[in-house]
Amino acid sequence: RPRGRYYAASMAFPQTRLRRLRRTPVLRDLVRETDVLPRRLILPLFVEAGLDGPRPIGAMPGVSRHSIDSAVAEAGEAAALGLGGVILFGIPAAKDDQGSEAWDDEGAVQLAVLAIKAAHPDVIVVTDVCLCEYTSHGHCGLLREDGSVDNDSSLELLARTAVSHARAGADLVAPSDMMDGRVAAIRAELDGEGFADTAIMAYSAKHASTFYSPFRDAADSTPAFGDRRGYQMDPANGDEAVREALLDVGEGADVIMVKPALSALDLIWRVKQETRMPVAAYQVSGEYAMIKTSTMDDRALALETLTAIRRAGADIVITYFAKDAARWLAT
Ligand code: PBG
Ligand code: ZN
Repeated sequence: RPRGRYYAASMAFPQTRLRRLRRTPVLRDLVRETDVLPRRLILPLFVEAGLDGPRPIGAMPGVSRHSIDSAVAEAGEAAALGLGGVILFGIPAAKDDQGSEAWDDEGAVQLAVLAIKAAHPDVIVVTDVCLCEYTSHGHCGLLREDGSVDNDSSLELLARTAVSHARAGADLVAPSDMMDGRVAAIRAELDGEGFADTAIMAYSAKHASTFYSPFRDAADSTPAFGDRRGYQMDPANGDEAVREALLDVGEGADVIMVKPALSALDLIWRVKQETRMPVAAYQVSGEYAMIKTSTMDDRALALETLTAIRRAGADIVITYFAKDAARWLAT
């Protein structure tokens, strides 16, 4: 019976031992394929004009609505931590059936962009472009008599909103409404108004998802009736997600987004492979809340999921853990 060296060679005893490179932390660091770097993370911020300072959001422990001033402070922290940028969501003073505060040049988002850019010119500012936070009915577009959302008349309002964000100084506008043709409509309006350099990060494959519920509490944007399944995507459809992404590329999107992230890792992968575009993934409010309120180690879970999202092919990750993650990665 063979022994020693001969034993290993002749019996085809594992010659490949993957554990060799798992032996020490330094070796593991050396061969790690995927990094979560602060510069790839975008921090979402809720801004409400008229607040005195941060106001905690019950459904999202550790996340607050911000005043213009506290949003500027957050953006400063984001910059100091080396984050890739911030994405702003507005909470209006008043809502109406059209969502007219969305394109008000003195709305919360517009004022916050101006203030952030004045204080921290290098911070990348993305703005969410939608109507649901601004409409009294809570849907992402204009309603017809029968309560359905009218696609084409909504486009003009979305484009107007995007232009007002660009005028305030947004680097990227991010339409999240899921109307057909909105990327083309926004691109045309931006170009026509002299904002050819403002980029579009399209929420392309955006599911109708229960994972948005904490956000809807935070932004007070739950639809007053019905749901969003008539415009957001059916989570069951993968080919359709790819078609949405390809359409947005054709209409002029600069970055393609997939959302949610953890329940759509396959779609992040497919969209990346099929488009070869910069791909962003949004680890949404429900994913955050699930991790934050679990009985497991939230730091380890956050980093594990962010790594998985990056490994699936996301270049950029929008996450409520952005600041925490940057701090954890530095230690
Ligand atoms: C607005 C919008 C939503 C989110 C981003 N933009 C809510 C929705 O579509 O209902 C969700 C973000 C999150 O859950 O963190 N349309
Ligand atoms: Zn919306």
